[in-house]
Amino acid sequence: MSKQFDVIVIGAGPGGYIAAIRAAQLGMQVACIDEWKNDKGGPAPGGTCTNVGCIPSKALLQSSEYFEHANKHFADHGITAKDVKMDVQKMVGRKDTIVRQSNDGILYLFKKNKVTFFHGRGAFSKTVEGGYEIQVTGASNETLTARQVIIATGSNARALPGAEFDEETILSNDGALALGSVPRTLGVIGSGVIGLEMGSVWRRLGAQVTVLEGLPTFLGAVDEQIAKEAKKAFDKQGLKIELGVKISEVKKGKKGVSVAYANAKGEAVTLEVDKLIVSIGRVPNTIGLNPDAVGLKLDERGAVVVDENCRANLPGVWAVGDVVRGPMLAHKAEEEGVAVAERIAGQHGHVNFNTIPWVIYTSPEIAWVGRTEQQLKADGVKYKAGTFPFMANGRARALGDTTGMVKFLADAETDEILGVHMVGPMVSELIAEAVVAMEFKASSEDIARICHAHPSLSESTKEAALAVDKRTLNF
Ligand code: FAD
Ligand code: NAI
Repeated sequence: MSKQFDVIVIGAGPGGYIAAIRAAQLGMQVACIDEWKNDKGGPAPGGTCTNVGCIPSKALLQSSEYFEHANKHFADHGITAKDVKMDVQKMVGRKDTIVRQSNDGILYLFKKNKVTFFHGRGAFSKTVEGGYEIQVTGASNETLTARQVIIATGSNARALPGAEFDEETILSNDGALALGSVPRTLGVIGSGVIGLEMGSVWRRLGAQVTVLEGLPTFLGAVDEQIAKEAKKAFDKQGLKIELGVKISEVKKGKKGVSVAYANAKGEAVTLEVDKLIVSIGRVPNTIGLNPDAVGLKLDERGAVVVDENCRANLPGVWAVGDVVRGPMLAHKAEEEGVAVAERIAGQHGHVNFNTIPWVIYTSPEIAWVGRTEQQLKADGVKYKAGTFPFMANGRARALGDTTGMVKFLADAETDEILGVHMVGPMVSELIAEAVVAMEFKASSEDIARICHAHPSLSESTKEAALAVDKRTLNF
């Protein structure tokens, strides 16, 4: 006997679990299926984000930053911290506890919102009168049916051909977040978001890190001025980043890994490292979903093909998050999940792709929303730019962290904010103001005229807005 629901959500990452909760809030009978297992084989909802992504990486970034502060910056405050040691197993254990708390939190939220959770793999089995039949296999073995199905099956790390992940020496994000000790030498292929975040963690703890990037430009999606400033800071920290390389071979040896590549000058180089992180992007995951059983259309990358409203090619089938087009970000997945649940309920769900913020949680942090200066130039848009350095901000000086700047880009005629770019302390938090401003179509003058608390880092946002009109007050 199959169990009937209004909506079945496959996947309980940020896209799926949020969609399930919102659909339940709107009065629907909702099932959510997720196959992730914790180390005891129990359910671990939350997806990549909770288990091996956003949350655990930020836990390790925090621990390693404290370690670096204790070693390098406490003395500036008159604090003596001798023999500072890092117990890596304890740090990783703390991270695991945070992950478990988050898993349990989601199970609690399911209960609170009356979402029925099934632990196992969900696969399409056939089209039926009332919609779709989904087979769950695993800890739960059930047949479910629903008229509406939301696919939120996420993504997996992309492997380098010829260098499969073993999570011992060749690591994806999974292994990079679970090392039991600090490697003496660490190679990273790909200087994208994961490469920089995970490279920073292990560098702070003492590893000698070399990042090999295929493209000749550093962080091509980031505003050039901001990327340049960030690169300067990473160079100073000793994070070695080589651009424009071409990897030819990755070979596992008895002790570590050797990476043969041609450098930007075309010279053949071999890098020997204890561990290698491969972070060259992620691929949409539809493994085990059995899309052919119902004729679900995938593209050549394996992503579910959807329209701008996340509708797949089948009536009542939707897909959100990393498994569809667009940036692979947890908050993008969540927004799509909410919008789809609302559309199913007959409401007007809405996601504004122009105001999705990006954050790279390195030190300095990098954050942006909207278009970069190079994009505006390429689009032929006339703009005004204003920057303000954290060096001129009193709170940043008090914190002892004056790297970086805030940069505003506004329309030359209307003054509407077109992009805000930041590199520096806590810009992951500061960017929210810029997102709100852009969502409300604010001008740089609007931000310049708003009272910001003193002393605060956010005054740099106001000052950068003032800089658009060349009237900074503190610089
Ligand atoms: P996922 O989170 O991947 O969840 C998909 C879920 O579906 C998984 O639990 C999976 O087990 C389950 N599943 C798959 N197939 C089936 C099936 N057939 N049946 C049942 N269950 C199934 N993004 C940010 O915004 N901020 C960050 O700081 C950030 N940091 C990151 C750090 C790392 C190291 C990584 C790898 C990613 C990070 N991301 C970050 C990206 C973020 O994790 C993803 O964008 C986000 O998790 C996507 O959510 P999702 O719901 O689409 O998929
Ligand atoms: P990425 O797309 O950010 O970076 C991959 C990098 O690898 C690129 O710079 C690319 O040019 C390079 N590359 C690709 N193939 C290569 C090759 N063969 N040799 C050398 N370099 C190569 O991907 P990453 O870092 O794997 O992260 C995946 C996604 O996860 C991110 O794009 C992001 O969406 C998400 N994420 C988000 C975070 C955040 O929001 N803070 C943190 C971590 C991940």
